Amino acid sequence: MTAIIPTDKLTPLGNPHLSHTRPWNTPQFWYGACYYPEHWDAPTRAEDAARMAAAGMNLVRMSEFAWDRMEPSEGKFDFSFFDEIISTLASHGISTMLCTPTATAPRWLTAAHPELLRVNEQGIPMRHGSRQQTCYGNPLYREYSRRITRAMAEHFKNNPHVVGWQTDNEFHCLFSECHCASCQTQFRLFLKERFQGEIARLNEAWGTAFWSQTYSGFGEIDTPQDGRPCAINPGQRLDYFRYLSEIITLFQHDQVQILRQHNPRWFIQHNGGFSHIDYRGLFLRDLDVLGFDSYPMFENDPEKRPLTQQIFLSDLMRSLSGNFMIIEQQSGPGGAGSFMTETAAPGEVRSMAWRSVARGADSLLYFRWRTCRFGAEMYWCGILDHDNIPRRRYDEVARTGNELKKIAPQLLGTHVVVEAAQAGHDYLVGDLHSTTTLGLPAMVETNQLICRHLHAAHFAAGMVHPEDSLEGLKLYIIPHWPLFKPGWVPALADWVAKGGTLVIGARSGTRLENNHVTSQTLPGTLRELAGVSVIEYGKLNPPGTDHPSLLLPGHVSLKAELWMEILHCESASPWASWKGRLADGRTAISLNKVGAGRVFYVGTYLTESTFPALLPHFAAAAGLQPLWPDLPKGVDVSLRTEGTKKIWFFINSTLSPLELKTTPSGANLITGLVSGGPLTLEPHGVAIIQN
Ligand code: GAL
Ligand code: ZN
Repeated sequence: MTAIIPTDKLTPLGNPHLSHTRPWNTPQFWYGACYYPEHWDAPTRAEDAARMAAAGMNLVRMSEFAWDRMEPSEGKFDFSFFDEIISTLASHGISTMLCTPTATAPRWLTAAHPELLRVNEQGIPMRHGSRQQTCYGNPLYREYSRRITRAMAEHFKNNPHVVGWQTDNEFHCLFSECHCASCQTQFRLFLKERFQGEIARLNEAWGTAFWSQTYSGFGEIDTPQDGRPCAINPGQRLDYFRYLSEIITLFQHDQVQILRQHNPRWFIQHNGGFSHIDYRGLFLRDLDVLGFDSYPMFENDPEKRPLTQQIFLSDLMRSLSGNFMIIEQQSGPGGAGSFMTETAAPGEVRSMAWRSVARGADSLLYFRWRTCRFGAEMYWCGILDHDNIPRRRYDEVARTGNELKKIAPQLLGTHVVVEAAQAGHDYLVGDLHSTTTLGLPAMVETNQLICRHLHAAHFAAGMVHPEDSLEGLKLYIIPHWPLFKPGWVPALADWVAKGGTLVIGARSGTRLENNHVTSQTLPGTLRELAGVSVIEYGKLNPPGTDHPSLLLPGHVSLKAELWMEILHCESASPWASWKGRLADGRTAISLNKVGAGRVFYVGTYLTESTFPALLPHFAAAAGLQPLWPDLPKGVDVSLRTEGTKKIWFFINSTLSPLELKTTPSGANLITGLVSGGPLTLEPHGVAIIQN
């Protein structure tokens, strides 16, 4: 059995610089659709390439679920179908991004090797007939993955129309855990490596002294499957999530290595964003750009849709590595199984696409070219309907594509301006929380709430990972980040001392790498910077009739929810206090002056009842102003910039025309007119102004 090489010991094969301000270094803005020619006969496909070109498209993505077409039986490769499609598309000026097809193993493979099927938490093996049914940790599956990747790379390496690749499809989207026999072995190997072969280290890290769990050898350890009467050891669970991240990263690394060996000019992306993957580790450092699938219509309320879905997820994805490529932009209502999303309003397919660009897309493809007439997603509507007639969705896509032809060259190289940021969650924050939630929301939920309020105030808002540079930020909020690494603190302290305003939410800095609670006085790693210590904490459960309330400066009283901490000010001063019951008069929020900056420590959860009332105070302390003044509700604003170049986006997400009192003086890139005065944005209208 081969050892598992830790991913941090491997040399990254892509771009090692991960920062929210990093543009994607692409020679052109790719625009197009996910295309499934294997679903259609030749007469139906006949007009596809011409129609795509007329819509301004220059790229399709293909083959992620077509392993059976390319290797119909073991070792018999046949790429002729895709060769022909690629060349037809190319004759209309459309390039191709291919995908390794490993998300859907063919039946000949699972029939010959049923041991490759994943096993879920209940011990039930997955079966053929759907997707993502195989175990990515299984060395034999990795071998099959390398084989098909090698065969594809070898075949397409000299095809000038294949410009890039996607690895697999949405790792961990529908399924992430596996408890198969191979994973038992692999998990043990992973742990052996992690604890340098010493079981005593594992026992200590997992706290096995609790409930008599001590192991005497790695061979005794299982994956944390169901079948325990009570909660599973949180150290074991967290290391299992780390294991899932490691094996998927290694699985992808195999594919990337082969692709790069065959043609170093290809770009490689993965359409990610799902749980149990350390994107900021080797996973994204192996790639050129993060791909991301954007389905804003999962939010039914059109008023909430832009902020809670689209802007929120775009900001979160951008915080992982910089500008991204949208691989699947929603182009119609999505229906599968027992649900179907709402239908986009007239203009909304276009406004959603432009909003993705405004929030950091350096390329954009729609899901999907034409709605399939069969299969589990036969109601997941694409640009064209089942009958292959272009209608309003096609018109909006074509309008956007033809606008992009003019505007895209200005956009490449720019990044989204952020002044008011929060630390967006990463996989470890979510995984660690999930091992012991105490009924408190995951940080990602708080991230969503904060995002909504920062953007509703029209600040230049975004998310920045604590490892990233904080340069340019005026306000930085760390919502509730338990595993706040000591190595992140010096740069943070430095940024504060230079004038930054930092807000730290309760329960930050409280846990260690091995998921133990820190022995330091809370807030642990952040105590000195906050100048405060937590001397008592407790949960606030409903109905909460006797809960203390928060008393802000100016005698404003707020209902606190979920959590309370009593603070002892060290170098900080009291800023808000508790009123009532066990905490009367004690400090609830503190303010510490550090150099030219300041740190607020908030001894409660940032919720709908507390955050909107606190934000104006934080913003005033930070000297934050809206990105553009006097914007009506329902318009979102973004600024992309490089050097002195500024490109402004104003997008109306409502069904009514909205009036902007002023606009930046410069050129309206859509209308070609001079901008500067008032402007009416039509329903779902978009204005893009350069100055
Ligand atoms: C994505 C996936 C696509 C398709 C789409 C619509 O998650 O990558 O293959 O399934 O959703 O459901
Ligand atoms: Zn497995």
